[in-house]
Amino acid sequence: MKITLEQLKEKPMPQHTAIIMDGNGRWAKSKGLMRAAGHRVGVQALKNTIIALDELGVGYLTVYAFSTENWRRPQEEVNTLMELIAEFIDKEIDYLDEKGVRVNPIGDISALTPKALQSISYAKEKTKNNSHIIFNVALNYGGRQEILRAAKAICEAVQSHELQIDDITEDLFSKYLYTAGQPDPDLVIRSSGELRISNFLLWQVAYSEFWITNTLWPDFKKEDLWQAVWEYQNRDRRYGGVGK
Ligand code: FPP
Repeated sequence: MKITLEQLKEKPMPQHTAIIMDGNGRWAKSKGLMRAAGHRVGVQALKNTIIALDELGVGYLTVYAFSTENWRRPQEEVNTLMELIAEFIDKEIDYLDEKGVRVNPIGDISALTPKALQSISYAKEKTKNNSHIIFNVALNYGGRQEILRAAKAICEAVQSHELQIDDITEDLFSKYLYTAGQPDPDLVIRSSGELRISNFLLWQVAYSEFWITNTLWPDFKKEDLWQAVWEYQNRDRRYGGVGK
């Protein structure tokens, strides 16, 4: 069945979509190319996805660009990823700004290469007043690390009597995460067929709908996104209840 934009617009959109952009390496290998080539085409797929999400009216996007575990990759690949992140931001910042995108890095960005850190910090500052699309870029991000960071900050607030133990609710905890003030992802997309969460947004995905495609990330197109959104719209989200 061919899905149309009109059909998608008839039902509620996922307010927040999160994406694990996986399969760049396999895509490159299948074409006899270096892994870096897969990441490069992956960046283009990301740009197209931002355009497509804008067309749909999705207000929050989180992408897993570099995990705390990705440092284990060969140094050359780590360098390429850092360069690509800086290159993407530098090249697209004016476009993103014009579109009202707010670039919001999540993760411990202090460990990035100086160039990547400079580009992402500039983008964050330049777009800080935009609100059309909140674009969370997970960089040196790990879900467990994020939860620990929140727990430590809450402990400090209790120690200094700013908070009482009884103040610690799910809502309060969420305010100490990188995604404070944002809705949790409604839809999580993972490309390349892997059935894992890989330490991504562990707290926030408690009630997210998952959509996995075998398509490798560099091949991910608007049609794949539309399929994901269509299937999301036709699921019955029960949040532990009995549904409609
Ligand atoms: C997973 O593919 C992809 C990554 C670890 C990096 C994703 C990064 C980008 C698409 C580009 C940079 C991001 C921005 C924000 C510009 P993989 O290498 O694990 O693929 P494989 O599992 O096939 O080896």
